[in-house]
Amino acid sequence: MSRPVRILGVETSCDETAVGCVEDGRRVLANAVASSLELHRPYGGVIPEIAARLHVETIWDVCAQALTTAELTLEDIDAVAVTHGPGLPGALLIGVAFAKGLAVALGRPLLAVDHLAAHLHAGQMTEPSLEPPYVGLVVSGGHTLLCVVHGEGRYEVLGETRDDAVGEAFDKVAKLLGLGYPGGPVIDRLSAQGQAARVTLPKPHIKEALDFSFSGLKTAVYQYVSKAQATAEPHAEDREGADGHAPLGEQQVADVAAGFQEAAVSVLVSKTLKACQRTGLSTIVVGGGVACNRRLRARFAEEAPAKHLRVVFPPPALCVDNGAMVAGIGFPLLQQGRIAPLDLVTDPSRCLT
Ligand code: KG4
Ligand code: ZN
Repeated sequence: MSRPVRILGVETSCDETAVGCVEDGRRVLANAVASSLELHRPYGGVIPEIAARLHVETIWDVCAQALTTAELTLEDIDAVAVTHGPGLPGALLIGVAFAKGLAVALGRPLLAVDHLAAHLHAGQMTEPSLEPPYVGLVVSGGHTLLCVVHGEGRYEVLGETRDDAVGEAFDKVAKLLGLGYPGGPVIDRLSAQGQAARVTLPKPHIKEALDFSFSGLKTAVYQYVSKAQATAEPHAEDREGADGHAPLGEQQVADVAAGFQEAAVSVLVSKTLKACQRTGLSTIVVGGGVACNRRLRARFAEEAPAKHLRVVFPPPALCVDNGAMVAGIGFPLLQQGRIAPLDLVTDPSRCLT
């Protein structure tokens, strides 16, 4: 029996420095991540220069951690896969340079991975029986798109966001509500205590097209919050916000979070169901950080069965940026002989090509 193929996956497209190790494209042996989140928090968003600097400082340790967890040495690695786009230019450069160095030093093939394709491939790692074609929904901090996955490297984009990505909208609304960064997980948590029906917000629908738009929803939240602050009675001097307005009460913040989340999730679900109707496909894979969202998962679970649709959500550790998904998609690339040249360049604005 031949020995399993072990691929190391390197991911540095944003603020996570991640290295995963996957056997035969499916078995996750390690998924190590270091995040520079704490350093970005005071700024309310990712600062590219800080992210790149932290990748340089931590990538070797993260790689060593992944190898230790996988109980492997570098010699046991058969190929090195790396995200070369889309992402922050400086951040991508660190991962690509590191992966090239490993590939040269070890004499192993280098595999170039598209970050969005890797997010969707996490679905195939989760459900081994999953076969293309299927509808893919990528929901992350930088992207929101619907596509048909015909096979590895063969994607047909059906619709994209025309402005903010949905994760970006979660983050900006959280900032507006004074909930810190990143906003997705905290809005997800707070919404469970809120009542979406108390806050009427527009459902951001672009008629007919499978495109998305989230900036209008974000503005509607801003207007709702400004109005609520202006009309609120501050109970005491110390309840006054820095801008002189009364801050929203805890329940009101939870209600706004739930109202926003419901509007965003509704449009993601309805457009995806429409994509299935148009393409005649009955399987959906949801990938990217926002795929961790519990309400998004619940809404698909509520609506898909009646339409005989199967929805695959990877586990949260494979939804957020991680190295295992990069190593996982490296396996079919290696099998197909799609080896990257050692003069591989980063491609910060690529999108499933
Ligand atoms: O895929 P990802 O880790 O990085 C990018 O490729 O952008 O996605 C990060 C995004 C952030 O905007 C974060 O707020 C969002 O995913 N996110 C969530 C949740 N967990 C992470 N959004 C909503 N609900 C969550 N539970
Ligand atoms: Zn991502």
